[in-house]
Amino acid sequence: MMNLYKYVSDAINKTLGFTVNLEVPKNRDFGDFSTNAAMIGAKIANKNPRELANEYISKLQKLDFIDNVTVAGPGFINLKIKDNFILNNAQIPTRITALNPLNLDLDYGSYNIGKALHIGHLKPIVVGDTFNRIAKFVGHTIKSYNHIGDWGRPMGLIIAWIIEYGMPKDANEFNKIYPASTARANEDEDWLNRARQITTELQNNNPEFTKIYNAFIPLSLKQMDDTLQRFNIMPFDMIMGERGVSEYVPETQKILENKRLLQESDGALIINVRNEDDNAPMPPVIFKTTANTNSYAAADLAAIYYRNKNDNPSEIIYFTDSRQSLHFQQIFRVSQMANLTSAKLIHVGFGTITGKDGKPFKTRDGGTVSLSDILDMSETAVRERVAESQKQLDDKTIKQIALAAVKFNDLIHDVKSDYIFDVKSITSFEGRTGPYVLYTAVRMQSVLQRANINISKPESYILSNDERNLLIQIMDFEHMILSAFENRAPDMLANYTYDLCQLINNFYHNCPILRDDIDAKTKAGRLYISKIAFDTLATAIDLMGLQIPNEM
Ligand code: ARG
Repeated sequence: MMNLYKYVSDAINKTLGFTVNLEVPKNRDFGDFSTNAAMIGAKIANKNPRELANEYISKLQKLDFIDNVTVAGPGFINLKIKDNFILNNAQIPTRITALNPLNLDLDYGSYNIGKALHIGHLKPIVVGDTFNRIAKFVGHTIKSYNHIGDWGRPMGLIIAWIIEYGMPKDANEFNKIYPASTARANEDEDWLNRARQITTELQNNNPEFTKIYNAFIPLSLKQMDDTLQRFNIMPFDMIMGERGVSEYVPETQKILENKRLLQESDGALIINVRNEDDNAPMPPVIFKTTANTNSYAAADLAAIYYRNKNDNPSEIIYFTDSRQSLHFQQIFRVSQMANLTSAKLIHVGFGTITGKDGKPFKTRDGGTVSLSDILDMSETAVRERVAESQKQLDDKTIKQIALAAVKFNDLIHDVKSDYIFDVKSITSFEGRTGPYVLYTAVRMQSVLQRANINISKPESYILSNDERNLLIQIMDFEHMILSAFENRAPDMLANYTYDLCQLINNFYHNCPILRDDIDAKTKAGRLYISKIAFDTLATAIDLMGLQIPNEM
């Protein structure tokens, strides 16, 4: 696949003998690329920028892929690429072989035993999974971790309840235990202490508690698996949570002790991470609680230790709610002080999904919205829309559209920003929505299915503006996907996909393909463009973990 941006940029740099700042104008009417090189050069050499621009232009005009170069304003240079070059080099995106493949550990998912996956897990799984797909696409080696919460106080609360009221029948019943037991602990100090005690003993392998624990874990994991499958999330390479890493807490503790980082404080073990120049609050990290259980931080530190030893990653990237930012700042500091890993540690913190009132999105009675609730809501909304438009779509298709609505909406927002969850707008078939994207794909797919001729690159073909703009967008794919990876910004992929769909639809409306009055040569050219446009869109859709329905 050709990375048009890189190709043009390299050629210009070579011709002019220095590195220019090459931009892609939002509106490509005046040029496909532009640069302020002459303005910057003029300042350094104390020359007139427009004169210098003209000097550059005479050099750039000799490049064989350049159609024309012009000066605009105080000295901007606009470059237009030859149509033939575009037609000959536009290709479908293929997996990239990275020059320097990285070994990355990704930590996303954040499931907790005892609680159904809820709206707070939407971004961690959707963005995490898409980032994983993007990173693999650009040639890196990825290991994905679901660092589940399966070893803390909630386990004690659940076990205490089961001892008193018996084993739950199914996952639904199981999910009620943790909230009920927490409510009781809030009122009943003895109950809380009992849960604490059980947690400590569980962590010390008490056989009775371990037996109960082992009985409910599969119930909970199965439920997590079902939800992840419903969201078309790739299986995790490692489901290794707080319990899994607890095995490495002693070794980690030893390292911390050797570096004299651990201090006793009221019966707990803590690590001071405050620097003199900290302005914001920076509380100490709790490593062991007063009840001598491993803390959330201890698990993360042991996880860093383990991953470093096993995977030797160059980066560990965590995807969670931004409310955990302080936690990650703290443990990253400890990791650095103790030299637990040479990997770069990165936390990608997410904004909150809110209702129309700007407050965290809740059910009508103020409860937590589960991830299945969200898909159910989306499915209902899609069903209504489809019925309104008198279409007949099968259940599988409805589900694919509903999933696209939820995931695409999640992906198109900058990861850090809050966004409003409005099921009506995300399921619309128009605008920046998943259904619009799938609809565009289905439309192209159907053109290609009806074409029944061999599709190949035309020898010569005069591009219309719509065709040209579409092909140039296709040639931007590699540049976009590399930036999405580097910036850890899957929203770049989603926004690219939306723009691509718009260009496809402009092309579709203005350039009839299969109509009877279209001559054979034009038809062949347009079908070729349709084919690579569809394949590009299909690749983007796949990277977002979505599926194209057979019809819509
Ligand atoms: N289970 C945690 C929670 O729900 C999130 C885990 C995120 N990953 C990590 N390594 N701490 O808050």
